[in-house]
Amino acid sequence: MSAPQFTVTRNPAPASPQRRAEVLANPGFGRYFTDHMVTVGWTEGSGWQDPQVVPYGPLSLDPATMLLHYGQEIFEGLKAYRQADGSIATFRPDANAARFAGSARRMAMAELPEDLFLASLSELLAVDSEWVPAAGGEDSLYLRPFMIATEVGLGVRPSAEYLYSVIASPAGPYFADGVAPMDVWLETEYTRAAMGGTGTAKCGGNYAASLLPQSVGAQHGCAQVAYLDAEERTWIDEMGANNLFFVFRDAAGAVELATPDLRGSVLAGITRDSLLTVARDLGITVTERRISGQEWLGGAASGVLTEVFGCGTAAVITPIGTVKHTGGEVTIGDGRPGPVTLQLREALTAMQRGSAPDPHGWMHTMVPAPATV
Ligand code: PLP
Ligand code: COI
Repeated sequence: MSAPQFTVTRNPAPASPQRRAEVLANPGFGRYFTDHMVTVGWTEGSGWQDPQVVPYGPLSLDPATMLLHYGQEIFEGLKAYRQADGSIATFRPDANAARFAGSARRMAMAELPEDLFLASLSELLAVDSEWVPAAGGEDSLYLRPFMIATEVGLGVRPSAEYLYSVIASPAGPYFADGVAPMDVWLETEYTRAAMGGTGTAKCGGNYAASLLPQSVGAQHGCAQVAYLDAEERTWIDEMGANNLFFVFRDAAGAVELATPDLRGSVLAGITRDSLLTVARDLGITVTERRISGQEWLGGAASGVLTEVFGCGTAAVITPIGTVKHTGGEVTIGDGRPGPVTLQLREALTAMQRGSAPDPHGWMHTMVPAPATV
């Protein structure tokens, strides 16, 4: 597809500047949405068509729409950050575009071309630019591209029609306590994904399946669940909405930053990938390897494991204070955010808000700075 031409229909009743300011003062996560959204259709034979920015509003679906029965749905999550010069940038949106296409392949859905994915973000941001929070802090506009099967019918087969959409939501911290350490539930009964399953795709069904273990974790006061591999129930995969990193420190003080290797059941997080590079740039020894639940619990108890954190777009880097499981609980280090966690968090967020150099070309300007007169 050559440069996609979007038609823009302005919302006749957008939020007032006062209402928008109220929302931006305390956005939370995923609670409020901007005035517009993107829609692009796909049908077998005609391909992608009719890219539009339209007023935010409900979708109308026939009750027999395939999405509602067999769950063909995928999504992405990325953030738009206001830069000091007033421009709006996103972080590695090309990586989200590639992962979205990979998720579509796994779910037998139509693949959205990367240029259309990127254009959909910049078109929405141009229209809803005033919803992007002020520069300098950690608040952002969270973008949620998603795709659903829209063919009507009950046959179990890939839909011949899809709707791609993007909505946007001003975002503060994903976890209510921000950078305060969270407690995590190490789940030994339920698994998140098996080899050959859908764990590497960002499909809604993975999150539906995580809700029961998440509520088990919540009963134990935990904000997230860490999953073991489905085959041996031994190896750490990841959490429900975050990848995991572990900081080991040997007797001589040498530091290893370790994260589970991607195997075939872990979501390839873009934050994870970026942190591997940022850490190497900072001279930290990095490994991608198998880490067992026992190594986590035993290392925390003996003191060789000094820090653990979760990472993802929504949560950025969130330290883990205590890991709980059916057999008890262990606090990691002194239970407070550790130095490696904080150093990496600062390095990443500084790049994202434009206050540190961007040696890897990760920031993409989506909306230029307003012209100065
Ligand atoms: N793992 C899961 C299951 C997720 O939902 C997410 C969130 O997107 C991540 C990991 C982190 O991925 P990313 O860093 O690309 O946001
Ligand atoms: C993200 O970090 O973007 C996520 O998708 C996590 C969660 C909100 C599903």
